[in-house]
Amino acid sequence: MGNSLDGKVAIVTGAGRGLGKSEAIALAKEGARVVIADLGVGKDGSCADEGPAQQVVDEIKGFGGEATTAYGDVGDYSEAGTTIKKAVDTYGDLNIIVNNAGFCRDKMIFNMDEDEFDAVIRVHLKGHFNFISQACSFWRQKAKAGEDVYGRLISTTSEAFLYASLGQPNYAAAKAGIVQLTMVAAQAMIKYGITANAIAPRARTTMTDEGITAQMFAKPDSGFDTFHPDNVAPFVAYLATPMAGRISGHVFVVWGKQVTVVDCPTPGERFENNEDTMWTVESLHEKMDTYFKDKEPVTDGFIVQPF
Ligand SMILES: NC(=O)c1ccc[n+]([C@@H]2O[C@H](COP(=O)([O-])OP(=O)(O)OC[C@H]3O[C@@H](n4cnc5c(N)ncnc54)[C@H](O)[C@@H]3O)[C@@H](O)[C@H]2O)c1
Repeated sequence: MGNSLDGKVAIVTGAGRGLGKSEAIALAKEGARVVIADLGVGKDGSCADEGPAQQVVDEIKGFGGEATTAYGDVGDYSEAGTTIKKAVDTYGDLNIIVNNAGFCRDKMIFNMDEDEFDAVIRVHLKGHFNFISQACSFWRQKAKAGEDVYGRLISTTSEAFLYASLGQPNYAAAKAGIVQLTMVAAQAMIKYGITANAIAPRARTTMTDEGITAQMFAKPDSGFDTFHPDNVAPFVAYLATPMAGRISGHVFVVWGKQVTVVDCPTPGERFENNEDTMWTVESLHEKMDTYFKDKEPVTDGFIVQPF
């Protein structure tokens, strides 16, 4: 047990299972009081169950930590507000939001229907907005009233955003949106001393227990269990502490014993029209063809490189 988060109040969404559970326990072991916000849905987002959130609360209380449940749907703005209110009413403040809840409905772009796209954008991207926006509003009002504020926003993106995961157009788009939502929040809130960062984890959870990830993330017979979700949690706890106050507006790939800083997309090659005229299709083609003629038309799809 540490004390780097003593007195802090955290909400971890999707904390009933998988990564969120490990992260909530890590925060509680550092002294935070934690709202375990989880609907307890299945891997496609259906069939809510209060059991998983309650079990995590029981586990945290079992080692002397403080925690309570919240059963709202993260994709619902008003239910997210109710979860934030519960944190403030129960523990007297709000300091840390770990946005983590979500589910997948994978299909190729040509097979995906509107509901599959909307549901995944809603739970991930809108779910992040619902908590980030309302937490920032809470902190800004406190700061304007002359009160001290301590705020940490930790978002959950995915390497699906980095590599444009081929079978996950909804998920990859939501995770890309989460990165920029986090960057905007980082810029808006730095004047209040509030940080915002995103992690792209890898772990063996219900989300990854089928197909290629099930094989790649399998528990080894012996030695270090690289893809245990507990390996991601210390970095989330670290970002939540005062020690990480200088780190804001960054993305980190986190798994096993690795933390990788993701460089933000930056402008690359620039082309100028040296004629005293507008571009034409022909003059553009001359420049573009010279540059692109030796390049592949698309990069490979999402290829996870575990080692
Ligand atoms: N597992 C990985 O390798 C991996 C990789 C990249 C990103 N991620 C991201 O990490 C996060 C956690 O994923 P996980 O692997 O632990 O998955 P998980 O399925 O084990 O846990 C997700 C939790 O979110 C909850 N949840 C889902 N929809 C909800 C809603 N509308 N409201 C409240 N709670 C809801 C579920 O009940 C579940 O307990 C997700 O954002 C996921 O996209 C995971």
